[in-house]
Amino acid sequence: MAARAIGAFTQRFFTNRKDQLLKNYPGFNLTRLKRELFHFALRSNMYNGFSEAHFWSAPLLENSQNPVCLFFSQLENGIPVEYITGRSYFYKSEFQVSEEVLIPRSESELLVEMALNELANWSRKTDEGLSIADIGTGSGALVLSILREINRPIKAIATDISPSALKIAERNFFNLRFTINKNSDLNLIHTDRLEGIEGKFHLIISNPPYIKEKADRELVHSQVNQHEPHVALFLPDEDYSDWFRQLFESISSSLYEEGVFLMEGHEEHLEELAKLAQKCALSDVQVINDYNERPRYLIARKKEWIN
Ligand SMILES: C[S@@+](CC[C@H](N)C(=O)[O-])C[C@H]1O[C@@H](n2cnc3c(N)ncnc32)[C@H](O)[C@@H]1O
Repeated sequence: MAARAIGAFTQRFFTNRKDQLLKNYPGFNLTRLKRELFHFALRSNMYNGFSEAHFWSAPLLENSQNPVCLFFSQLENGIPVEYITGRSYFYKSEFQVSEEVLIPRSESELLVEMALNELANWSRKTDEGLSIADIGTGSGALVLSILREINRPIKAIATDISPSALKIAERNFFNLRFTINKNSDLNLIHTDRLEGIEGKFHLIISNPPYIKEKADRELVHSQVNQHEPHVALFLPDEDYSDWFRQLFESISSSLYEEGVFLMEGHEEHLEELAKLAQKCALSDVQVINDYNERPRYLIARKKEWIN
C-alpha cells in the first residue's frame, strides 16, 4: 500500500483524536497543529529545506526515526507542544523552552505591561541608570521582554534556584541580544530568591512558584503536573507564608525608596499575601485583577516611614 501524504495523515490524526487533543491542549486546532509540526520537521535533516507544499504532499514513511512520527507520538502522550518543538511565544518574542523551565503563560504578559508603565514613570523622574531584578526567571521571559521594550540602558539581574533553567535563560538572552539596548546588561544568578544579592533596584518583578503542594494540587491540570518542573510550580503548604515573608523582607531591603515590586500569584492566596507584604515594610500594597476579574497580581512600593 502506498504511504499516505503527511498532509492527509495530519488531517486524519486531528479528526480521529480531537477530543483527547482538546483535553490535553485546550483551544488546539488543525491550523496550530500543522504550524507546529511543519516548524518541528523543518529543523530535522530529513525535511530541512522543504517548502510547505512539498512537505505536506511528501509520503509519510512510518518509522520511529521519522521526526513527523516522533512529533505525533509525543503529542499522543500529552507532552506540551512547546516542549516538543522547544519554543514558546511570550509578549513579542520567541523563547526557547525545555522541560526544565515553565512554559511562559500569556497571563504573565500583564505583569510585563505593568513593569513597563512603572519604568516609564521612573524614566520621567530620573536620568540615572535604572536597575531591575527578576526573581525566579525560568526561561527569562519576563526580564528579556522588559529589556526589549526599554530604549535606555538598564542594569538587570535575574535569579533562579534551578541551574538548568538559568542555562535556558542564558540561551534566550543570547538569541535576543540584538533586540536589546547594547548598553543594557543582564546578570543571571544562581541563588535562592535574592540571597546574597547586593545593590538596590528601581523595580523587582517575580512570578514565583505559588501553588500549595497539597491544598491546591487538585486544580492543577494533569498535563502541567506531569510535565512542567515542580520547582517552578509548588511550595510546601506548611512553608508557604514563611517563604513569602522572607521574599518580601528581602525585597523591601533591596528596593530604592519609591521602588516598586510586581508579582504574579494564586488567586486564592493573594489577599493573604498582600497583608503579609504590608507587615514586611512594603507600602501601597494592592491586589490587581486580570482581564477575567480574577485577583492575580500584587503591586507594592518601598516608602520610608515619615514620623
Ligand atoms: C512560575 S516559574 C516562573 C518562570 C518565569 N519567570 C515565567 O514567568 O515564565 C517560577 C520560577 O522560580 C524558580 N524558583 C523556584 N524556587 C525558587 C527560589 N527559592 N529562588 C529562586 N528561584 C526559584 C523556578 O525554578 C522557576 O523557574
